[in-house]
Amino acid sequence: MSSSAPSRPAAATAEWWRQAVVYQIYPRSFADSNGDGLGDLPGILSRVDYLAGLGVDAVWLSPFYPSALADGGYDVADYRDVDPRLGTLADFDALTQALHARGIKVVVDIVPNHTSDLHVWFQEALQAGRGSAARERYIFREGRGEDGSEPPTDWVSTFGGPAWERVADGQWYFHHFAREQPDLNWDNREVHEEFLTTLRFWADRGVDGFRIDVAHLLTKDLSEPLPSKAELSAMPIDGRHPLFDRDEVQEIYAEWRALFNEYDPPRTAVAEAWVHPDRVPRYAHPDSLGQAFNFDLLLADFDADMFRQVIDHNLDLASRSGSSTTWVLSNHDVVRHATRYGLPPVGTLADAAERVDGEPEERAGAAWLLSRGASPELDREGGICRARAATLLLLGLPGSAYLYQGEELGLHEVAEIADDQRQDPTFFRTEGAEIGRDGCRVPLPWTAEGPSLGFGSAAPHLPQPAWFAASAVEVESDDPASTLTLYRQALHLRRELQCGEELAWEQTGRDDVLSFRRPNGWRVVTNFGTQPYPLPAGEVLIASGPVGNGILPAQTTVWLAPQAS
Ligand code: GLC
Repeated sequence: MSSSAPSRPAAATAEWWRQAVVYQIYPRSFADSNGDGLGDLPGILSRVDYLAGLGVDAVWLSPFYPSALADGGYDVADYRDVDPRLGTLADFDALTQALHARGIKVVVDIVPNHTSDLHVWFQEALQAGRGSAARERYIFREGRGEDGSEPPTDWVSTFGGPAWERVADGQWYFHHFAREQPDLNWDNREVHEEFLTTLRFWADRGVDGFRIDVAHLLTKDLSEPLPSKAELSAMPIDGRHPLFDRDEVQEIYAEWRALFNEYDPPRTAVAEAWVHPDRVPRYAHPDSLGQAFNFDLLLADFDADMFRQVIDHNLDLASRSGSSTTWVLSNHDVVRHATRYGLPPVGTLADAAERVDGEPEERAGAAWLLSRGASPELDREGGICRARAATLLLLGLPGSAYLYQGEELGLHEVAEIADDQRQDPTFFRTEGAEIGRDGCRVPLPWTAEGPSLGFGSAAPHLPQPAWFAASAVEVESDDPASTLTLYRQALHLRRELQCGEELAWEQTGRDDVLSFRRPNGWRVVTNFGTQPYPLPAGEVLIASGPVGNGILPAQTTVWLAPQAS
């Protein structure tokens, strides 16, 4: 595949995803059309012109399937339907059509590691009892102790608390996440067939791509004797670990790839795989899912050295897999980047990487990303300034950019949610020790007034703080200095400027200033420091803060136009 093809023509081809800007919608918190406090598909439909005006290439919809919301929709009760509170399949078709009419692709979320406990399969498993074919679709075991009343192992779930739950007849089932999310048994052929049917169902409806939830967890080696938690933690994650990133998970994705390639253009997929960076190319390879999230920037401070390491490393990984890289600063699982950058730096990248490198308690340790919203040390203005600079740098990089709803408004994490209004199972399963992810899932403010700031006509399912009003779409739309204006302008310019998937670093003479040039001469310069930097020569196309008088201010990014040679 050519890496020097310009992205605009590519947008109409099978390669559209390589440098796409993908906007993540968390449907329950985007727009509420029927006044029940929950966002829905008709709500999104009513905002497609907003998405087109923003200039995104694709929309990724977090789960909108029937769900009891034990984990914000990642507990799916039926993979081939729409939650009645969010609409109907006809609404989904209308939304897909409206997005396609505006040249926007549609990506849906597939959650294959676990179902909801309300899924018909799990209900059948409960009814059918020990040794049944229905239980074989999940991971059931006998307990320990004389009466089997102790869980099969002392493993801890990612959300805290035990990873096993006992059912009425005394057996236990395994769940990586909440107890309402029983893990599927991917040794069972029926499970494979079921997901192939689901992928085909959505691909046939015109879906362009899939985001694969916890893609590294599906296959397990649960042969007896099961290791203890301590033994599990001591095992290397090298493709043979019993629970994480096993080599044979790729066999599943090879099957899926064959299905994706039956379509024209082939359907795309992106893996959410929290694995060692060196193993990311397995998921991103064209014979596998084709692309994988790069979460490294979630772990980096606003720091030139860390950004450069992350960028170099991920461009190298992409060249190893043949995929393009992906950039992410915010999503529905982490504290919004305006807030992260408004808090004191975390430390080194290596420290941060260790915290998410595999074992349940360490993955849960990624909760450091989740629990930092409430700090009194938050520098709100500084956080937004650094977030704008980081975003403008990210949008100048080769590869695709994944944006999360609300970051275009410069929204901060909402820390002030009362305990009795929280929804995230992380909060409950850790008995409040981790505040969880609700703070980045608060419904968007569209207007400065109204019962839910234009989100809908009723109180939203998570409360919006008063300060959201100042960041409403309506308010920011008219403000040339707003973060929304910055995103709109940057995304439109990016379309014109996008070029081959390379960059060349330039000398800046300062450790805290990064500068790179793209193949067409487009230059991106970020001053991470606290002192101004002389603005390099060239036409300023856009900047994340006020540039002028030959100065690139502290904590600011600028794009410089390709120069005529
Ligand atoms: C992924 C999702 C997260 C969810 C978890 C379990 O990490 O992004 O929101 O809680 O998987 O499905």
